Amino acid sequence: MHTSKNLLIVHHTQSGDTKKMTDAIIRGSEHKNLNIRSLSALKANSNDLLWSDGVLFGTPENFGYMSGAMKFFFDEIYYECLEKVSGKPYSVYIKAGNDGNGAKNSIEKIVSGLGLKKIQEPIIISGVLCESALIECEELGKLMAIGLTESIF
Ligand SMILES: Cc1cc2nc3c(=O)[nH]c(=O)nc-3n(C[C@H](O)[C@H](O)[C@H](O)COP(=O)(O)O)c2cc1C
Repeated sequence: MHTSKNLLIVHHTQSGDTKKMTDAIIRGSEHKNLNIRSLSALKANSNDLLWSDGVLFGTPENFGYMSGAMKFFFDEIYYECLEKVSGKPYSVYIKAGNDGNGAKNSIEKIVSGLGLKKIQEPIIISGVLCESALIECEELGKLMAIGLTESIF
């Protein structure tokens, strides 16, 4: 007997690559027992995070950090979600020109403060977004879907 679970995907894109990664993640995570809410980081709020059983964050690296839109999301939700989202599984996907570590570190610092539980190291795609990168994103979606619906996380 499976009860349905809720996946939140919070994302931002400037020139479209992170959106393509988001679309691949959604393709991979589609599952009959999973409700998927995919929202721009400028629109998602604390209720969305509280609703979720698991969450994925997708951002480009801008100026050695997560995008301003993603930072806006964390600024908005932080105190409302603190101590209410501890243990929720999460992962991150990043599109960068270089190594993406600035975006990775900045997100990990905040989500570790929230007590989220990492299910997989961030996917960091640097340079051209190729088919294998999108397959990697699909796989992350699939992992999250199976982990949530089978109550593995
Ligand atoms: C304002 C701005 C700042 C950027 N800063 C960085 C950076 O610090 N490090 C990096 O690796 N790439 C940087 N980039 C490159 C973007 O991360 C890269 O183009 C990425 O693919 C954009 O993703 P998107 O198509 O989803 O917007 C920057 C791009 C912009 C527009």
